[in-house]
Amino acid sequence: MNILGINSTYHETAAAVLVDGSLVAAAEEERFNRIKHGKQSNIDNPHQFPEHAIRFCLDYAGLRTSDIDHVAYSFDPNLRRSQFRADWWPDPRWEEVFLLRLGEVRGVAERIIGRPLRQNFHFVPHHLAHAASAYFPSGFDGAAILTIDGLGEVAATTLSKAVGTRIRMVETLLYPHSLGFVWELISLHLGFSAYDASKVMGLAAYGNPEVFRDEFESIMGLGSEDYAIDPEAIGLLSAKSSRLQNLLGLPRYPDSEILQRHADIAAALQVATNAAVGALVRRLKRKVPLDNLCLAGGVALNCVTNEVVRQSGDFSNVFIPSAPHDAGTAIGAALVVYCSRQKSDPERGNSMPFLGPEFNRREILAAVKSAGLTPQRSKAPAREAADMIADGKIVAWFQGRMEFGPRALGNRSLLADPRRADMRNILNQRIKHREGFRPFAPSVMAEHADEWFEVGGHSRSHEFMLFACPVKPDRRDRIPAVVHRDGSARLQLVRRGTNPRFHELISRFFGQTGVPVVINTSFNDSEPIVCTPTDAIVTFRKSSIDALFMDDVYVTVPT
Ligand SMILES: [Fe+2]
Repeated sequence: MNILGINSTYHETAAAVLVDGSLVAAAEEERFNRIKHGKQSNIDNPHQFPEHAIRFCLDYAGLRTSDIDHVAYSFDPNLRRSQFRADWWPDPRWEEVFLLRLGEVRGVAERIIGRPLRQNFHFVPHHLAHAASAYFPSGFDGAAILTIDGLGEVAATTLSKAVGTRIRMVETLLYPHSLGFVWELISLHLGFSAYDASKVMGLAAYGNPEVFRDEFESIMGLGSEDYAIDPEAIGLLSAKSSRLQNLLGLPRYPDSEILQRHADIAAALQVATNAAVGALVRRLKRKVPLDNLCLAGGVALNCVTNEVVRQSGDFSNVFIPSAPHDAGTAIGAALVVYCSRQKSDPERGNSMPFLGPEFNRREILAAVKSAGLTPQRSKAPAREAADMIADGKIVAWFQGRMEFGPRALGNRSLLADPRRADMRNILNQRIKHREGFRPFAPSVMAEHADEWFEVGGHSRSHEFMLFACPVKPDRRDRIPAVVHRDGSARLQLVRRGTNPRFHELISRFFGQTGVPVVINTSFNDSEPIVCTPTDAIVTFRKSSIDALFMDDVYVTVPT
């Protein structure tokens, strides 16, 4: 049975293909169309499908469109129609437009597949798709699941219970109680885009959370086991007015100076979010008293909150997939449809994030030559790259299949030496052009991680950069470039079994320097992460990367 999963309702448009219950391929559309998030989240474009990602998934699986048995779509317009209140919008006609466009999605799928799908097209509730995308890869046999995002159909947070292959919703918190929207609105207030939660998270480490603590308690309505967003305080769409300026002061204009006040706002938001999610976790534990917890939804990208949840010990085991945001719902929707059609279990416990395109040496060499560059071959790319990094060079490391999810995990990464305090500025000035307050993440050999970081119990999600933990105080001055202002790092554990080439590179760097850590930042410059060898060469040529390794081919800056 071949199932195509699609996410296109809001943003992070993506596709996935499940063959007989096994995940064969998944990719985000942004990597192909080179538009961040695949598309803007507008009310009039849920019918814009991730057509490049769909084409890739089919090709990789060796399937023709006629081989697709079912299409799973990670949003349910009927659920939306029955429960969403049009007065939640400033103009009720917006909902008409949204539903009209959603009414087109089956037709778009049929055009792509080339035949009527009838009962073989499935609308899957958005939060159920999120929950499945976390539960089945976790490998847990039974779990409590917490899904937190901006908005599904009407739910902003869902508590679920999984037993066997069945996922049951336990409780939902409906709009306007949306932590995701609070982050979007505060991000805009701080002069960033609605999608820039990671900037707010980075800025938070520079702030004093006490300064705006009362204001965020007013916005979030924090309780011991829940929260209740005040829409008038935050100025959510349904609000008749907004007290946000009264509470937090004037918004910051984009590109204007970042003041201490802005960092204090970010810090208070982070602390309030930790409290809100912590309360939900306690509530979930009471309702679903199991040992295992899965987190899903865009808010599960908050590595600071994730660490608070993990350290709370409410659940012994915590799993978060590599793509907990909307892209992951393409996988989850396909898994839900599989379980509804088949008696056998889908694949369980496969959390491998390397699900995208890969390129062979012939394709890589062709791209290098057509760019007019001279390819060089390395008999030991991991060693040569490690030598260059130890020598202060910035190395682009392009290997194997592209990651699924927002983090580069060693296959589309830029790597540098964490021992040099100035490396953050060098990376920012020469390539990334990011705000100086944003941290760079370390990738560490898993077997040495506990010597350098206070990791606690290892979770497989540590391989996806989803927890921020303290760097051991006596190690901080050895790897200053990856230590955030608050002494933490959003580390990635690298295992030989999961990514042998990347592990070997760090191992070589360790052998030469005594430090089992490299800086790992995504291979891009203010654009989606590179996908193809040509994308890689374009970013290599327009920035100041010293060397680009693709498989065992490498190029250096022409002299
Ligand atoms: Fe979502």
